[in-house]
Amino acid sequence: MLEAVGGDCAGALAFYPHETKPPARSDDVEVLDDKALGEVLELIKRRPMLAGDDGYRFSLAGAQDKLAVGLREGRIALIKDGAPTTHILKPVIEGIKDSAHNELFCMRLAKMMGLDAPETSLGFASDTPYYLVERYDRHTAPDGTITRIHQEDFCQALGIAPEIKYEAEGGPNIAACLEVITNQTAHPAADQMKLLDRVLFNYLIGNADAHGKNFALLYKGDKPELAPVYDLLSTAIYPSLAKNMAMKIGGQYEPRDVYLRQFYKLAPDTKAARADMKKRMEKMVKEMLEVAPELKAELTAKGLESDVFGDIITIIETRARNFG
Ligand SMILES: Nc1ncnc2c1ncn2[C@@H]1O[C@H](COP(=O)(O)OP(=O)(O)O)[C@@H](O)[C@H]1O
Ligand SMILES: [Mg+2]
Repeated sequence: MLEAVGGDCAGALAFYPHETKPPARSDDVEVLDDKALGEVLELIKRRPMLAGDDGYRFSLAGAQDKLAVGLREGRIALIKDGAPTTHILKPVIEGIKDSAHNELFCMRLAKMMGLDAPETSLGFASDTPYYLVERYDRHTAPDGTITRIHQEDFCQALGIAPEIKYEAEGGPNIAACLEVITNQTAHPAADQMKLLDRVLFNYLIGNADAHGKNFALLYKGDKPELAPVYDLLSTAIYPSLAKNMAMKIGGQYEPRDVYLRQFYKLAPDTKAARADMKKRMEKMVKEMLEVAPELKAELTAKGLESDVFGDIITIIETRARNFG
């Protein structure tokens, strides 16, 4: 598969067939107008990652259809010949109402809450919405040269196969993620706090899919750092999706069994550590309750409307009660 589509992957790896020289960087791009983009969004349902189409060679993990693309003057562009792409485009997931609006809302909320989050937007190909996120594993120099930065998700870091990414199947749990950080990152104490903030954030928005492939290490310097957040989606607003969380919080898979004392189990067993945890968690809950409706109002003022915004806020309000 990588032989066919591995020209531009997650992180800094690129794969080419034996004895093929990676192409020299050109600006061989196909800028898509609305109609062409609409066709591509239809096509990738049948041909994931456009496999087989001459020139496009990108590959990204994950369960959903997506495209790795570039932007030229605000338009989506397909990058040929394996030059680095700069954005990831996700169409609406079939059967998941307004999934693009949902991911936009959760990622923007994360950013407003001070979590490390890339730029996101919602675009339309004619009337069909799609979600667009800037790649954090790319760096653009002032002269426009794009370099790839290596990344590795937590399953990869732990040598755990993607088929067993959920804790219940043998995938990483929160303790294993904290250990990856302790053993590997340049600033373990800060990254551990960031991870715990994300655990609470995901809990509050109702993201049951925060498994070991949805956290990553980013190799900017000699030692890696915790990569920004990605793939944030409130799954709890859809009755058809799994309720249990990808990783237990303080021994519990079921969201309704999670209280502050479950979070205490993630902190060192001292009074001071618990007091710190309590303060941090309560602050976050309070802020989310304020910021989420502001975000909804902001998006609505820009003409973006979806029932999912209100649904996510309801989940946040419901879960916040477990902390009050
Ligand atoms: N903003 C981003 N920058 C760089 N890599 C990303 C970004 N978002 C996602 N990825 C990479 O692409 C993979 C798939 O994206 P993800 O959003 O998790 O999609 P899915 O919903 O299919 O799981 C991730 O595991 C990660 O390696
Ligand atoms: Mg994912």
